[in-house]
Amino acid sequence: MSNEHQADATDARTPPVAVWQVIEKLKGKELNDWRLADVKGRASVEERNLNIGIPFGWYPIELSANLAPGEVRPLRYFSKDLAMWRGEDGQVHIVDAYCKHLGAHMGHGGKVHGNLLECPFHAWRYDGDGTVKDIPYARVIPPQVKRKCIRTWHVTEANRWIWAWYHPQDIAPLWEVVRLPETTDPDWTDYEVYEWNVWGSIQNMAENGVDVAHFRYIHGTANVPLGELRWGEWGRGADVKAKMGTPWGEVDGCISYDTMGPGQSWTRFTGISETILVACLTPVELDHVHARFCFTQPRAQAEGERAGVAKAIIRDICKQFDQDKVVWDRQKYETSPIICDGDGPIPQFRDFYSRYYVKA
Ligand code: FES
Ligand SMILES: [Fe+2]
Repeated sequence: MSNEHQADATDARTPPVAVWQVIEKLKGKELNDWRLADVKGRASVEERNLNIGIPFGWYPIELSANLAPGEVRPLRYFSKDLAMWRGEDGQVHIVDAYCKHLGAHMGHGGKVHGNLLECPFHAWRYDGDGTVKDIPYARVIPPQVKRKCIRTWHVTEANRWIWAWYHPQDIAPLWEVVRLPETTDPDWTDYEVYEWNVWGSIQNMAENGVDVAHFRYIHGTANVPLGELRWGEWGRGADVKAKMGTPWGEVDGCISYDTMGPGQSWTRFTGISETILVACLTPVELDHVHARFCFTQPRAQAEGERAGVAKAIIRDICKQFDQDKVVWDRQKYETSPIICDGDGPIPQFRDFYSRYYVKA
């Protein structure tokens, strides 16, 4: 790859970056509002070729701490209305939201009764297997709902998140969520969470990591070396090693990126400041992804004398996401893209990613 144009590459905070004009003036609350706001007038899913389905896999739904025993929550993910609850026994369940009786959305106004979800409309009570266990005002439970009568979702908890398995044909999980010991280690900080709505597809977002040419034009950084790519059965990753100059001398830096399925990815930054980014991207609709970035760092570092550097890394990663969002929000999926020699391994990425879709 040619490096001749890289000498004047600037850093991510300077104006020549193409999308800078869109976000340069946004600060504080305005920036947060922009990250979450609807993008009005965007083209249809069909026009953007985004009607390619949602890739199957484990997806992060909610921070475990945000759902106490006895709580019910409505969810909208995977183009579906869902109801989630945590029973008194601590188990989390997710089911399709609509009650088989008269169609109430059980996530709105539903209650937890023991370990059962009670519909707000007439108090029919469902267990986590999607079976009606109790109708307080009836002597007989209709046989159609005495067996599983609504879709139930595979749920697990890992890395301080609740995860749900999505598969368009409701096939059981094909792999497990990867557990990251640091995320539950008391010597590491609580998650610092940043949130976005992206009005595009999760596949276009994933492709960004191997799109080497955009780093200069979108992020204003020199082309990032791809490092050693790892392509596994269900996951992929890369290790990018670089010497980094710091006020306290040169250090060996490494950015190590991993995915497991389309819905779990994490990045370890070592060298200047140790950081783990747990990137939580969950499809809502074919053109809408709910993104939450969770950062954790060793407490000794985040609360120590290099706290400023630790914070700066987080700020910079979020800024990069803002910059990509400007493109993702309106990006089309080019089914036959025209690729040049300076591009990264985009065809290889697409070939790999195709395993997450059910073949027609
Ligand atoms: S609609 Fe749910 S109990 Fe009647
Ligand atoms: Fe990017």
